[in-house]
Amino acid sequence: MAKGKDMIFFCQSCGFESAKWLGQCPGCREWNTFVEEPKAPKTAGKKNMPGRMSVASEPTRISDIETNDDERILTEIGELDRVLGGGVVPGSLILVGGDPGIGKSTLLLQVCKRLTDKKKSVLYISGEESLKQIKLRAKRIGEFSGDLLLLCETNLDTIEDVINKTKPDIVVIDSIQTMYKETVSSAPGSVSQVRESTGILMQIAKGLGIAIFIVGHVTKEGVVAGPRVLEHMVDTVLYFEGDRHAAYRILRGVKNRFGSTNEIGVFEMRDKGLEEVANPSEFMLNGKPEGASGSIVACSLEGTRPILVEVQALVCHSSFGIPRRTAVGTDFNRVNLLMAVIEKRMGLQLSNSDAYINIAGGIKMTEPAIDLAIVMAIVSSYKERPIDEKTIAFGEVGLSGEVRAVSMAEQRVLEAKKLGFTTCILPEASAAALKSIKGIKILGVSGIRDIGTLSF
Ligand code: TYD
Ligand code: MG
Repeated sequence: MAKGKDMIFFCQSCGFESAKWLGQCPGCREWNTFVEEPKAPKTAGKKNMPGRMSVASEPTRISDIETNDDERILTEIGELDRVLGGGVVPGSLILVGGDPGIGKSTLLLQVCKRLTDKKKSVLYISGEESLKQIKLRAKRIGEFSGDLLLLCETNLDTIEDVINKTKPDIVVIDSIQTMYKETVSSAPGSVSQVRESTGILMQIAKGLGIAIFIVGHVTKEGVVAGPRVLEHMVDTVLYFEGDRHAAYRILRGVKNRFGSTNEIGVFEMRDKGLEEVANPSEFMLNGKPEGASGSIVACSLEGTRPILVEVQALVCHSSFGIPRRTAVGTDFNRVNLLMAVIEKRMGLQLSNSDAYINIAGGIKMTEPAIDLAIVMAIVSSYKERPIDEKTIAFGEVGLSGEVRAVSMAEQRVLEAKKLGFTTCILPEASAAALKSIKGIKILGVSGIRDIGTLSF
């Protein structure tokens, strides 16, 4: 074990380095995340490593570089391809993060299945499960027709040799926290191991033009154990979210060098693996109550796709001096702000009321366009007056109580119409720019005072 000046303190959450122990990390503001580890040896930068990117010393004209859009490999899982920006780019490094047990291994094994069906060569390296266990999972997913190569290994030197020998098109590493490099003396999953391992995998990916999927487990509070360090090294970061107890899972693009971010893919966990959900709005609105106060449907844009969600509010008299407020699935501070706006601009007395806001279905929505729906749900619950259940609302609410325009209003209205809604309450500015759409009533509002005059 290294001692003294070979040791350094790392933040387990973001990889911040410090010569001495700190209670709170200056990088990510997490508490008690510092651990002492040996310094990482400088192997990642060594020359003549197998698979190392050859560095062109001559500059090249941009017009001389040939690219081909067909180069992207489609996984044939539509939801994943869209989040990736239209398929997997060869030579890219893709991090798939998520809570343990959310379905990362299942998704990637399904990707392997689709790709081997397309006659691509795929190497699945697991450091967590035995060959038999992987086979058992594969059996649940379906028949594997192509050749999928499996390897149970955690030593990166061996993995590197195998990749160099087999030269697959795609490699899956499950998970990065189990991989280790012998020259780094700290344990697998530690900051220096994870950093070193990712560095090596990146060189392999770029050098040989192999797309590598890396699985990373999120431990506490949405941080991949150790490897927030990983996020800036890889090309694409996808997070798998969702309540473990609910059936659906959301794959969210957080970073993408080859496509847009904030795109989401929706899946449902079935007994035969993950199934794509083609129409998430329908799925999210399942079980919506009828004739209940404090409930309205909002339309939020996730990437390029409008999704309808139910916003619920429960406002009741507070038995304590300080009222309780909670927000599930949306920003707590935003809810507080909106309540202050309602109090000041609509004159409702909320200061002695508890308020609980919930985005039904467990999905997280932070787009300001759901402001209007939150305001309407709060007002509806406060007044105990249900809103017509065929109504949706969207719009951003400002501090003066004005309802501001939002982007892509037409797509949102069309999505609502598709699901059988008959009335749409939206910002006046957006409504004015909208062509009339048959079969749905458009109500433009300029301020939140206007919603008081609506019929609910
Ligand atoms: P898994 O992919 O092992 O999670 P991760 O790799 O992210 O840790 O997912 C395991 C969960 O998925 C487990 O709770 C069982 C469930 N599951 C199904 O419901 N159906 C299936 O067909 C499979 C393979 C798993
Ligand atoms: Mg797994």
